[in-house]
Amino acid sequence: ARGSSLTDFADKIGVDAASLVQMLFHLGEMVTATQSVGDETLELLGDELNYVVEVVSPEDEDRELLESFDIEFGADEGNEDDLVIRPPVVTVMGHVDHGKTKLLDALRGANVVAGEAGGITQHIGAYQVHTDVDGEDRRITFIDTPGHEAFTAMRARGSQSSDIAILVVAADDGVMPQTVEALNHAKAAGVPIVVAVNKIDKPEADPTKVRGQLTEYGLVPEEYGGDAMFVDVSAKSGINLDKLLEAVVLTADASLDLRANPGQDAQGLVVEAHLDRGRGPVATILVQRGTLRVGDSIVAGPAHGRVRAMLDEHGVEMAEADPGRPAMVLGLSSVPGAGQNFIVVEDDRMARQIAEKREARERAALQAKRRVRRTLEDFMAS
Ligand code: GTP
Ligand code: MG
Repeated sequence: ARGSSLTDFADKIGVDAASLVQMLFHLGEMVTATQSVGDETLELLGDELNYVVEVVSPEDEDRELLESFDIEFGADEGNEDDLVIRPPVVTVMGHVDHGKTKLLDALRGANVVAGEAGGITQHIGAYQVHTDVDGEDRRITFIDTPGHEAFTAMRARGSQSSDIAILVVAADDGVMPQTVEALNHAKAAGVPIVVAVNKIDKPEADPTKVRGQLTEYGLVPEEYGGDAMFVDVSAKSGINLDKLLEAVVLTADASLDLRANPGQDAQGLVVEAHLDRGRGPVATILVQRGTLRVGDSIVAGPAHGRVRAMLDEHGVEMAEADPGRPAMVLGLSSVPGAGQNFIVVEDDRMARQIAEKREARERAALQAKRRVRRTLEDFMAS
């Protein structure tokens, strides 16, 4: 919690920042909601609220937990020779309805848009696409994100787990609020951006205007002397899709060293997860390093289990998933949260032990939040 504001703290414990300001005032401290507060202030609040203020971040705590099992998340094992080129992970971002899902549908010859409720993407999808670049078969992993303003956290997570961002901007609509938001997420994550100026089949399309608008946000097209690649596309008419893929591959080759060791135990991220009536918990995961195999014991957030089956984006069963590959995993004990990590461990026992510890921690945090909310309600009522 170090260096964060009262608002951050309030968010974390699920209460209203204004009541915390009021409580601190009552305790003799004048603090505004957005001001950054020190550990002492948080501890003071914690005492008053009967809440153990976590000065340790949940990430650090989890790292320690894994360390106690001799596991390090995020570590590439082996030496140089063990590393092989992996496909780039590309997050597709942009304002609602600008054609992100349609573009991915066009790139992989599918039709997800047609099946979406109200045509609005509600969760993240992940797909792998093959493309031919100079006679070479190249794979690219795409992560679709929703453009609706409510899904900021998903976009932030999406950009953090990706190597490249495709910013989709509809040429008939131009730069809109979530275009800017997506752009900022990608910048914050230090991810190179390729701009897909979409819907150029429309008579009212104005791709030049889009270039001008993005230039104002510091994304200057190569043709204007900047370093951002812009590709005019139409997801509907299939215009320039090959150029877009080429731009992605060029960006990956030019500025990124994307390699991973397929020989180590698999690790990666949960992209999306839900409970399926017939199949139980289903998690879309992204393998970041190592190779995930059917039969592996895994822990994903507070969920654990053995990989019972793995499906690719076409619903076809796979025996293994190599680095950079998304896969739907069946066999988890519960539904992990999007953005949580997954790790292959020695055996089921270890997976269960780690999962139980994480679960206990989540439960304790939840109970503490409830307690805090009650105490705060009492305080406000008195
Ligand atoms: P969210 O996921 O909800 O943010 O939307 P999205 O960006 O995924 O947009 P989606 O792919 O669902 O497309 C929105 C609408 O625009 C649909 O009706 C598409 O058919 C249409 N559309 C997408 N691309 C094009 C295009 O290149 N040309 C035209 N004319 N229409 C397009
Ligand atoms: Mg969509």
